[in-house]
Amino acid sequence: MNTISFARGVPAAELLAVEQLADCAKTAIERDGASVLLYGHTLGYQPLREWIGERHGVDPGRVVVTNGSLQAFHFVLSAFAGAGRVIVERPTYDRPRSILSGFDEVPVDDDGLELDELERLLDSVEPPAFLYTIPTFQNPTGVTLSEERRRDLAELAKIRSLRILEDDPYGLVRFEGDVLPTLFELEGGRNVMYSSSFSKTIAPGLRVGYVILPEAIAAGLEDVVASTYITPALVTQATVLEFLRRGLLEPNLERVRALLRARRDAMLEALERELGGRAGWSRPEGGYFLWLELPDGIDATELLGRATEAGVTFVPGPDFGGEPGSARLAFSFASPAEIDEGVSRLAGLVPAAATVELG
Ligand SMILES: Cc1ncc(COP(=O)(O)O)c(C=O)c1O
Repeated sequence: MNTISFARGVPAAELLAVEQLADCAKTAIERDGASVLLYGHTLGYQPLREWIGERHGVDPGRVVVTNGSLQAFHFVLSAFAGAGRVIVERPTYDRPRSILSGFDEVPVDDDGLELDELERLLDSVEPPAFLYTIPTFQNPTGVTLSEERRRDLAELAKIRSLRILEDDPYGLVRFEGDVLPTLFELEGGRNVMYSSSFSKTIAPGLRVGYVILPEAIAAGLEDVVASTYITPALVTQATVLEFLRRGLLEPNLERVRALLRARRDAMLEALERELGGRAGWSRPEGGYFLWLELPDGIDATELLGRATEAGVTFVPGPDFGGEPGSARLAFSFASPAEIDEGVSRLAGLVPAAATVELG
């Protein structure tokens, strides 16, 4: 029996534009030759920094292009070392949780970060280094910060001089609903730093992500970046730029959105059929993940053991700081037919009489 993975937060192979990327890579190397095959600018391939700067309406000197946006998180951390603890969402992306030696947490509900809780925390702790938030199609819950809360959080950032790192790798992967302004746009990019990535919009193996910082902070990172990798991987940055210049991003996004939407729909339909009334789950308008609240008394970590034997995997909620009865289901990797089968396998392990207290 094939194991069906709802654990892997990666795109299925059919989401990748292999031929187009191969052609872009060839052009990039042939055209840019020595400039991408030697060491280059520490903070990234200059023409790509310019493209990103133009897209976000900022000076390219503020853009640091990194080997994936997780690397950008490390650099931002190093810029604020000793400046206090980081505040994260609960639950949040598991890697920052494991990277940070200590952090404070603010819960997330169906509308994203709970701002009252954030204010309460800010009143009771030393000023934080920054707030790390994923406002759009959050990893792991799939939840999106409402427009009202975005405006309030941007205002709060101004009033309280609260530094924020807005991590936004999924924003462009929207299947439906209105596009919402980013915190970075609302606040003007003074206290809000913005990171994103081409991992979910083109391909993760390219390892091209970026962060937009105040100019002095970006420039101040040159030493730590040089000591980390001298120069980031320029060939893939030039490949991404070629992809962008050929106008391939928008058609690629259309394709990726359609494929992911079909997967999300398959998961929602199967959950309704198999666990309707017995469990709860988020209904994301984009991204890779949804959040499952298991019936009362069912422990996700224990369930995972049995699920793995039954041929389906997921990540238990506690890995992200979530409740014992919660789980992250990724719909990005399995096909719609596999998703249907995987949800049946999972539901078969949940006692029929179980119910969940829905909030
Ligand atoms: C919220 C979030 N941030 C950052 C990353 C890292 O992405 P990358 O390093 O591939 O740009 C991921 C990857 O899954 C993610 O979910």
